Amino acid sequence: MLNKSFILGLLLLIVGDSCTKNIMTIGHRGSSDKAVENSIEAFIHAIELGLNMIELDVFPCKSGELIVMHDDTLDRTTNGAGKISQMTLDEIRQYRLTDGQEIPTLDQVFDAVDRRCKINIELKPSCYGLEQKIIDLVKEYVDTKGWKYTDFQFSSFDHYILLACREQLPEVPRGAIMSGLPIGYAEFGTLVGATSINMSAKVLRQELIDDAHSRGMEICIWVVNNKKDIEKLVAMGVDGIFTDNPILFKDINGACD
Ligand code: G3P
Ligand code: CA
Repeated sequence: MLNKSFILGLLLLIVGDSCTKNIMTIGHRGSSDKAVENSIEAFIHAIELGLNMIELDVFPCKSGELIVMHDDTLDRTTNGAGKISQMTLDEIRQYRLTDGQEIPTLDQVFDAVDRRCKINIELKPSCYGLEQKIIDLVKEYVDTKGWKYTDFQFSSFDHYILLACREQLPEVPRGAIMSGLPIGYAEFGTLVGATSINMSAKVLRQELIDDAHSRGMEICIWVVNNKKDIEKLVAMGVDGIFTDNPILFKDINGACD
């Protein structure tokens, strides 16, 4: 005979299974609520809140190092100005982020994260040589520092870049970023070897989610900054959600504990 507490435990387990614990929680540019976006503190804050993944953007500077920044200039998020591609690391390092932190390079972020969460590296289009530098760095961290290829995701709006990444490092998952709903739903994703479609929340449709799943791809949604929308997306069956405000996930995950 099953007793009451056993049945209650079983119910809690079932409810737990459907909560956001199973959703990939992704800190967009780390987190922007407590620190400047794409900064070491923003990434650490996201990790401390228990997120599964951080997302970041990268540009190569004139001397070749990989600068973690969303814009291709220093203008918006630092006390300096100028195009990253036209400045050396030394020139860039004369400036600080607007909250006083150092402008990070990609290897500095890897070291700060230290395998505590996955890293989604967005490769911006039209940066000559960018994917090769990133591929080499990821290889180095896997070969010498105990990281796994699945600790990373390469993502891009430029799906040719994803094909180039797959050619060299097929073990690293690839996110095809989309801001508009594609004709044929997730069909294009198979062409570009995507493991995930990273779709804008503005144009999401249930058909796309279902089609991606039927083709073995995940669906991750950017950028969602309120709890109601997060709950709606969870109910629709998405696999991951990007937010600027990771505390939203903490509350939801907290409810599952
Ligand atoms: O990865 C999705 C999202 O980051 C793309 O937009 O402009 O924030 O880089 P953006
Ligand atoms: Ca991005």
